[in-house]
Amino acid sequence: MSAKRGRVFSGARPTGRQHLGNYLGAIKNYIALQDDYDCVYCVVDIHALTTLETTHNLKENTLDMVLDWLAAGMDPKKSIIFIQSHVPEVTELHTYLSMVTPLGKLTDLPTFKDKVRENPNNINYGLVGYPVLMAADILLYKADTVPVGVDQAPHIEFTREIVRSFNYHYSTNVLIEPKMKVTEFPKIIGIDGQLKMSKSLDNHIEMAGTAEETTKRVMLMVTDPARQRRSDPGNPDICNVFAMHKIFSSPQEVSMVNVECRRAGIGCVDCKKLLAHNLNKNLEPFRQRRAALAQNEGAIWDILHDGSKRAKVIAEKTMTEVRDSIGLP
Ligand code: TRP
Repeated sequence: MSAKRGRVFSGARPTGRQHLGNYLGAIKNYIALQDDYDCVYCVVDIHALTTLETTHNLKENTLDMVLDWLAAGMDPKKSIIFIQSHVPEVTELHTYLSMVTPLGKLTDLPTFKDKVRENPNNINYGLVGYPVLMAADILLYKADTVPVGVDQAPHIEFTREIVRSFNYHYSTNVLIEPKMKVTEFPKIIGIDGQLKMSKSLDNHIEMAGTAEETTKRVMLMVTDPARQRRSDPGNPDICNVFAMHKIFSSPQEVSMVNVECRRAGIGCVDCKKLLAHNLNKNLEPFRQRRAALAQNEGAIWDILHDGSKRAKVIAEKTMTEVRDSIGLP
């Protein structure tokens, strides 16, 4: 492990079955980093508790998400895969970090303001501390590289500030300032053709849906709104179906669609059928691996428990150093 370039840490809330946006925006990168870095991937179940709507079915949602991770190629032999709450040292570090965190900094964060706007009736203490807990995740495992989407940039910057603040305050260098590694693939738009793909907006396409379900979702995709009739020429540059063809279809098919859409040689229905076909072809091996893994639920929990054990070794060492540097008796 030591020959690697450094340690990666990333976390995701247990949101159940993953969709194409999760895959292209995050999971694919998690998998790609496994060979070059010593990777730690965490299901952040404690973070999920900060918002009411995500506190249900935590076990089931964890299992579904981890099945998608594993079927996509996350490898427990290469990476540590574990559940945040199984290594409770993170909550202790969170508490210590909170002492060097100015409250105003937390309430100023754009992510906090978004949550307040979305859910004004549930502004709890834990929600304010969300970024402190995220910093604790990263710092507990001494990660130097954090692959996340651009929306998380303020949290990584906040983590760096907290490191400087802690290290200065306690005259130490136990905590390491992490770098962010932006993983955002060109933003994946949902089937509404407008907003970022997300489960809560119900504009997503699941990775592990059946071929029929996947085709059905693709057929619902919103195309160039100016193209009203089959005989109208379309503009692939603003069409989300074309954007998906660029990811899942062959170069020949992409250029065919590009040309034929502009001169109304291909209609939206046929264009989507082709996309659905290619998407299903791409996803089929993944679905088979997932179905095989799902046969043995116990083995998945074993992987997660083994991951927690390995994570705990790192966490305990960091906490000893942290407590020492604070000077706790
Ligand atoms: N806040 C991240 C998100 O919503 C999830 C997260 C929690 C995380 N802890 C982390 C990401 C540590 C990277 C590193 O996507």
